[in-house]
Amino acid sequence: MAPRIAVVGSINADLVVQMPTLPGRGETVSSAEPAWFPGGKGANQAVAAARMGGDVSMFGAVGTDEPGQMCLTALTQSGVAVDSVQKVASPTSTALVMVEHSGENQIVVADGANQFASFDSDAVASADAVIVQFEIPESVIVEVGKTANGIFCVNAAPVREISDELSGLIDVLIVNEHEFAQLGKPSSGLVIVTAGAAEVVAYENGEVVAKSQPPKVDAIDTVGAGDTFVGAFVVAYASGKSVSDSLDVACAASALSTLKLGAQSGMPTASEVTEFLTSKTT
Ligand code: RIB
Repeated sequence: MAPRIAVVGSINADLVVQMPTLPGRGETVSSAEPAWFPGGKGANQAVAAARMGGDVSMFGAVGTDEPGQMCLTALTQSGVAVDSVQKVASPTSTALVMVEHSGENQIVVADGANQFASFDSDAVASADAVIVQFEIPESVIVEVGKTANGIFCVNAAPVREISDELSGLIDVLIVNEHEFAQLGKPSSGLVIVTAGAAEVVAYENGEVVAKSQPPKVDAIDTVGAGDTFVGAFVVAYASGKSVSDSLDVACAASALSTLKLGAQSGMPTASEVTEFLTSKTT
């Protein structure tokens, strides 16, 4: 049976601009035509989890505007339940996403409706796994952690200090290498550290318990690759796969997600990941 996953988090409209090289401080660069895509770490992780076979519900907030509707439509089209997403009197949060031709990116988020994110206690309490990120208020994240009975997974991005109260609630912490370095004292449960195209390492109580090397691909856009990793890992882990197998699946899903422009556009389905992993071993 598909694991029931509740994602409580951000929903952003991404304005994506592509350029040969990201601008330096004080520099102006020319871009190709801008394009709007659905994004936000929460929504991206929900889409990734649904495409990987999870039974996913999204909790968060959008404005009553066109970008908000675009984001909700994208979630629905990927099979994510959005009935509990609040429509509030604040604009949908917007991310300016700059992508250079090498695939590297820089992102600025103009916050709006995400500050009003809320969740349904019964749905969170009964989910097999619950995912949060740091684009919604800390008070909401702590409440979610206290309510969750299944696996409570925190993606500490964008990074900020993890309070002792939150730290004690976390079952799985997923961060990238830069976030890991900034955290200083990560939580004591399962901690997974991603590193772009380099090896992913999982620690339990400070000891390495598993590693996985992401497959090599010619990335077009790495925005959302980390979110794909989180969604895919949680579905695999909540389905009963080992940490090691879950890392392999998440690495493959994350690599495949970089092959299209837009955070959610390239996120693969479970069968696409299986096919990809099989082709690597034959
Ligand atoms: O992780 C990628 C996401 O970060 C983008 O979709 C953007 O909205 C920002 O939240």
